[in-house]
Amino acid sequence: MKNNTIDYDHVSGIYDKVRTGDPEMVHQLMGGVALRSTSRVLDIGCGTGNNTLLFAKSTNTTVAGLDLSYGMLSQARTKAMALTFTHAPADVLPFGDSVFDFVFMTEVVHHLPDVPTTIAEAFRVLRTPGAFCIVTQSHPQIAMRMTSRFFLGTISVDQARYPSIPQLQNYLLEKGFSNVEPREYIFKPVRLGLDYLETVERRGYSMLHKISDEEYHRGLDDLQKTMRSRECLDYAAGYTFVWAFKT
Ligand SMILES: C[S@@+](CC[C@H](N)C(=O)[O-])C[C@H]1O[C@@H](n2cnc3c(N)ncnc32)[C@H](O)[C@@H]1O
Repeated sequence: MKNNTIDYDHVSGIYDKVRTGDPEMVHQLMGGVALRSTSRVLDIGCGTGNNTLLFAKSTNTTVAGLDLSYGMLSQARTKAMALTFTHAPADVLPFGDSVFDFVFMTEVVHHLPDVPTTIAEAFRVLRTPGAFCIVTQSHPQIAMRMTSRFFLGTISVDQARYPSIPQLQNYLLEKGFSNVEPREYIFKPVRLGLDYLETVERRGYSMLHKISDEEYHRGLDDLQKTMRSRECLDYAAGYTFVWAFKT
């Protein structure tokens, strides 16, 4: 088993402060699947529940969150008391067979020790028909991040940590999914400002824990100087939504 993750219990307070639910992300997820008010949805690796809550409010479906970090879950539970949050690893889902209509995972797959087993578990808990969506970044998308400009070493670290899109497609097909389709999406550009700087200063992105302290401080210094120079840091993040269906 690989250990790809960071101590989310430790960073949960910072995470919740600097990463909020993303309406564009939720909009893309909603657009890929037909749901009814009776549909049951599972957010694997839900973190502090921001997207879980937004998805529940936007679709009026019953959404459950699952995560391995007690710290992240306790933040989720305070803000979304009406939703169910379960502590469990993604590769041993504590649910029966065929109970969900839609399962999604946003920015989680690179943390998982066993991606094929997690995919097999998602397949098992889905009803037929059912949909699964893995939201991640392709290797070229990783190289295009703003963080890659200041912390060059994060590119190779994350390209090694993130399964490639073809690899995910193969796993999905092997575990029984059909109509597997990666869809690239570019989020609307945002101007990175003090929130971004604060996130980096708090090492709020997991890849910043995977480079040396020396490289981290060099990159942070460069970022601080760039911000002081008033150069505009406009960034449009590219993501890949890998859709797969149980038919
Ligand atoms: C980058 S955060 C993403 C959180 C949320 N999905 C979002 O988009 O804001 C990754 C989350 O995956 C969770 N995680 C990591 N490994 C996991 C595993 N094996 N099983 C379940 N959750 C896991 C972490 O605890 C963390 O909350």
